[in-house]
Amino acid sequence: MKNLHKLFFAAGLMIAAAAFLFTACTKEGPQGVAGINGKDGTNGINGTNGKDANETCKICHTATMVDRIAVEFQMAKHSWGATAFEEAGNTACTPCHEQKAFVYVCQNNTSSAFLFTGGKWVNQYFPDAASTFGEIGCWTCHSSLHTTYGASDIALTTTAPISMTMWAGAKTIDLPADSGSGNLCAKCHQPRPLTCGYDASGRVLNYDSLKNFPLTVQYDSTAGVTNHGVKPSYRMHIHYGAVGAVYAGVGAIEFAGTMAYSNSYHTTHASCVDCHMANPMTGIAGGHSFNVRNAKESALGSGTTWNFNGCNVTGCHIDEPLDKTSAKWVNTRASVQTLLNQLADKINAAGGGHDILHREASSANLWWGLTTNNYDGYLDIYDAASNPAGYWKMSGSAQPKFPKLLNVQVGALINFQFCLREYSLGIHNTAYVTALMTNTIAALNAAGL
Ligand code: HEC
Ligand code: HEC
Ligand code: HEC
Ligand code: HEC
Ligand code: HEC
Repeated sequence: MKNLHKLFFAAGLMIAAAAFLFTACTKEGPQGVAGINGKDGTNGINGTNGKDANETCKICHTATMVDRIAVEFQMAKHSWGATAFEEAGNTACTPCHEQKAFVYVCQNNTSSAFLFTGGKWVNQYFPDAASTFGEIGCWTCHSSLHTTYGASDIALTTTAPISMTMWAGAKTIDLPADSGSGNLCAKCHQPRPLTCGYDASGRVLNYDSLKNFPLTVQYDSTAGVTNHGVKPSYRMHIHYGAVGAVYAGVGAIEFAGTMAYSNSYHTTHASCVDCHMANPMTGIAGGHSFNVRNAKESALGSGTTWNFNGCNVTGCHIDEPLDKTSAKWVNTRASVQTLLNQLADKINAAGGGHDILHREASSANLWWGLTTNNYDGYLDIYDAASNPAGYWKMSGSAQPKFPKLLNVQVGALINFQFCLREYSLGIHNTAYVTALMTNTIAALNAAGL
């Protein structure tokens, strides 16, 4: 939040400068006759005399501040993305998709636990029904705007550690760099829970059992084994917010293996802001566009230039500045990509000749180009609306039965979604995704798969 401090400082200077100008004016020319006293003004809200409102407005309302930032923000998917309209009104979805709901869950410190009520487990992470709308905008992340009309109104809505919704609160994401500004991002960019589909209990999947009992059958349609686990479907997934968890190095299925789990330097020393809001902008990357790549989105075929200004600063990569041809960038991404392809092959082996992972070679796939076969983290299960060409059977459809899955395979699927959907091919946390995929592949091998 270095810039926020700069903002305070600039505001102070502006007020001091204004005061100086007024003093200077009164010294010019001979003094005229004193006029009659005016009526006393009323006190301001705080009981003290108000400041000149125009001056405090100008802390923010200048060409280089709000006006500039509002234009940058037009290029952010937060601004142009369609989900705020699609998910409005839905209490389950809005904490991350609508302004009012996000501010509600932050201000009320809404629990991410599941409560047993009415004979089943119910997710508590929802706002009240009146707060389920609003596009993501300035007031989403700066919810105190226009409360005191002072510089402090720019403060972030939250910087508190996050009780993970995927784990019903059993795990926490905490990103301490930059006074916790990354926690603002990860509050929304976090994975969602997988719940059990074979009983009406609504329980969160027991993730620990996936690694502790790897050989237990999770699902077998032929034998009728369902183990009260997850029900394979096209969208059996952790949703789209893997980044926050991967960045913090928490929340995946951490199979024991040859590699110890650790985090890259970034986790504690860099914040989302450093790379995603770097200044100056490069095309439409940096500032309040939140893009790192100079492109609308990151899928294959979009831009191939990047904003490395956040990387090449003192304390980070200033001595060996990075660009897209640097060995550090190229080799890290290539080795993570190799692991992604290997893990995908291992998972697909369950299909005995036909992939179980869904492929999508188009810009509808946010991860288009990250793996050789363009997986998107979904399963290739038939779904009349979302995957009409799906190869595998959904209950009632005519396709071949979906293969048996052991616990270790369900864990591997979740980990594949984590490592694919963090988007950056390891830049967010090389150490964590490398250990995760290496150990997952070993766990599948150990299970004879
Ligand atoms: C997704 C969250 C998010 C949204 C939406 C957002 N901001 Fe920010 N804003 C931030 C963060 C994080 C910072 C802190 C940047 C830093 O630490 O350098 C910030 C900083 C600022 C600052 C301080 C000065 C600066 O240049 O860093 C201003 C002013 C500002 N935002 C205005 C706006 C305006 C205007 C909008 C709407 C057009 C907006 N913000 C929308 C997250 C957001
Ligand atoms: C801490 C920064 C800050 C201060 C101080 C501030 N504003 Fe704003 N104001 C904003 C931001 C951010 C927006 C949203 C800009 C956008 O959406 O493009 C905004 C928007 C507005 C708008 C457009 C309508 C709206 O609500 O979106 C008006 C009018 C306005 N401000 C008036 C004022 C006045 C008058 C003052 C001083 C009394 C003031 N502002 C002080 C940050 C500030
Ligand atoms: C209120 C929840 C929320 C917060 C807070 C938030 N985001 Fe987002 N972010 C979203 C959603 C939702 C989308 C996708 C919008 C859509 O598709 O309509 C998104 C999209 C993005 C994208 C574009 C992703 C793509 O697919 O191209 C980036 C990059 C991003 N956010 C970074 C950040 C960063 C960095 C922060 C913190 C400074 C942040 N976000 C804070 C919810 C949030
Ligand atoms: C814990 C926060 C969170 C919750 C709750 C949440 N989402 Fe999202 N969702 C996100 C984020 C973050 C993104 C954007 C990821 C990106 O583009 O990088 C997203 C993206 C999406 C997208 C866009 C995917 C695409 O291909 O562009 C859809 C659609 C969506 N969410 C639907 C939903 C629905 C429906 C619900 C409720 C059932 C829901 N979300 C609940 C965080 C959440
Ligand atoms: C060390 C630099 C760095 C940091 C720090 C960082 N990111 Fe990223 N992020 C990247 C890169 C590189 C990409 C890949 C962008 C692409 O392919 O277009 C990326 C991609 C993303 C995307 C998908 C973007 C898109 O435009 O499609 C999201 C969302 C995202 N990051 C969120 C975050 C969040 C949230 C944080 C903090 C928890 C964070 N990032 C921290 C470098 C970083």
